Amino acid sequence: MHAARVCELINESAKQRGTGIASRTPEYVEKKMLDGKAVIATDVDAHRAVGFSYIETWGHGRFVANSGLIVDPDYRHMGLAYKIKKKVFNLSRKKFPKSRIFGITTGLAVMKINSSLGYVPVTFSELTDDEEFWSGCRGCRNFDILQRNSYRMCLCIGMLYDPRRHQSLRQHLVDFVRRHNLRAQKLRFRWWMRNRRLKQKKFLGR
Ligand SMILES: CC(C)(COP(=O)(O)OP(=O)(O)OC[C@H]1O[C@@H](n2cnc3c(N)ncnc32)[C@H](O)[C@@H]1OP(=O)(O)O)[C@@H](O)C(=O)NCCC(=O)NCCS
Repeated sequence: MHAARVCELINESAKQRGTGIASRTPEYVEKKMLDGKAVIATDVDAHRAVGFSYIETWGHGRFVANSGLIVDPDYRHMGLAYKIKKKVFNLSRKKFPKSRIFGITTGLAVMKINSSLGYVPVTFSELTDDEEFWSGCRGCRNFDILQRNSYRMCLCIGMLYDPRRHQSLRQHLVDFVRRHNLRAQKLRFRWWMRNRRLKQKKFLGR
């Protein structure tokens, strides 16, 4: 029931704007919900879905996109998109902590929301090169522009959240230690010190 309503909202909006969200079937939306890769806002009193967004992975999981953001026109300008985006963003971080999260948009609302979550504007070269992602733009009226520019630029702005830029100092240290294999070096040093002490003891005992 909710999946059908979500698709209705997406299709109505796509018709009005001619750009934006790729059309999805109710089965696809339902699968996303069952897989726990979607956030849905419902009006409990009206028994209907009023907002939605879902997670897609690209480039073998190196990239994650929070796609299909939609808010029912009757529920807009109340901060609902902010809430949905934040939830789907946190869900993506939990499920795919190492993936870069990205999106492409022409919408000011989405740009504002993404910026508040730590996304920065980037060129398309920084985004996934997964052809399947870019084929999702086929339904957009500007697709010919994207094609003419060899998928390097279009009217949409690319926005990216790179978890490496936001990780804590502790995580930086852990990564540094791993990268330089410091633990192994520390163990070798301890072993060397132990042997040295033993040799000294032997020498003094003599
Ligand atoms: C875009 C959309 C999701 C925004 O939903 P919403 O619930 O009204 O957004 P919010 O109330 O959370 O507002 C978020 C911010 O965007 C701004 N905003 C909302 N709609 C806007 C619009 N049409 N134009 C410019 N800014 C807008 C708000 O003022 C707010 O900014 P602020 O923090 O400076 O006050 C909704 O209009 C929609 O479903 N549009 C059609 C589908 C679509 O465009 N999806 C995005 C595809 S990339």
